[in-house]
Amino acid sequence: MFAIIGGSGLTQLSTLEVERREVARTPYGEPSGALIFGRLAGCEVVFLARHGYGHTIVPHRVNYRANIWALKAAGVGSVVSVASVGGIRPDCAPGALIVPDQILDYTWGRAHTFFDGADALVRHIDFTHPYDEGMRRRILDKAREAGEEVIDGAVYAATQGPRLETAAEIDRLERDGADVVGMTGMPEAALARELELPYAAINVVANYAAGRETSMQGVHFEQLEQVLQEAMLRVRNVLARLCQS
Ligand code: HPA
Repeated sequence: MFAIIGGSGLTQLSTLEVERREVARTPYGEPSGALIFGRLAGCEVVFLARHGYGHTIVPHRVNYRANIWALKAAGVGSVVSVASVGGIRPDCAPGALIVPDQILDYTWGRAHTFFDGADALVRHIDFTHPYDEGMRRRILDKAREAGEEVIDGAVYAATQGPRLETAAEIDRLERDGADVVGMTGMPEAALARELELPYAAINVVANYAAGRETSMQGVHFEQLEQVLQEAMLRVRNVLARLCQS
């Protein structure tokens, strides 16, 4: 069984045949919403809307620890994150699907580890390759089988939000090596690693990042919604394929 954490544009998975919902409690509080257990193209999956089912939880207030803990406790074997991003690299254009392979973390003040209890031992995880390579490959292969074009590899920059970036901030991220920018990739990926849950992401480019291409004078929200809606149809297609072994 694998889990799907859906972000903006994917608060519901209409293709999921829902079997039951479970309100989970964890030592870290409540997850963003009920875990939805069901079948996708015949296989068992658990779905969780990262921002809540009414899309009300801002990126820095998502209880990432409770979300990851609840999924692990539910017995999932891996997690696929779906998250929208702004494109910095020219080919990361609105509508593109990307399976990132690296992360730069600019977030702050988020509960970012399970290993900080008063009596907990100091533990460090290896995070050289933040995404599970086997899962990345599988997503890429299944996407190709499904006939969906997906970009293999990008450096994901996680920013604090909820505001979008300034053009100068995007210039800095680009100098740092970032290809796409989003607000929720961290600490989610690191927490999954702490619990030894294989984790990979599908990024959906909603807009060019601030000061780039069509966002030169600003990011246009009307277009963003439309691009996301269309791209999420393709993401659903990839997720359904992922179910078929
Ligand atoms: N910046 C940060 N996060 C985002 C963006 C962006 O431009 N677009 C979608 N998520």
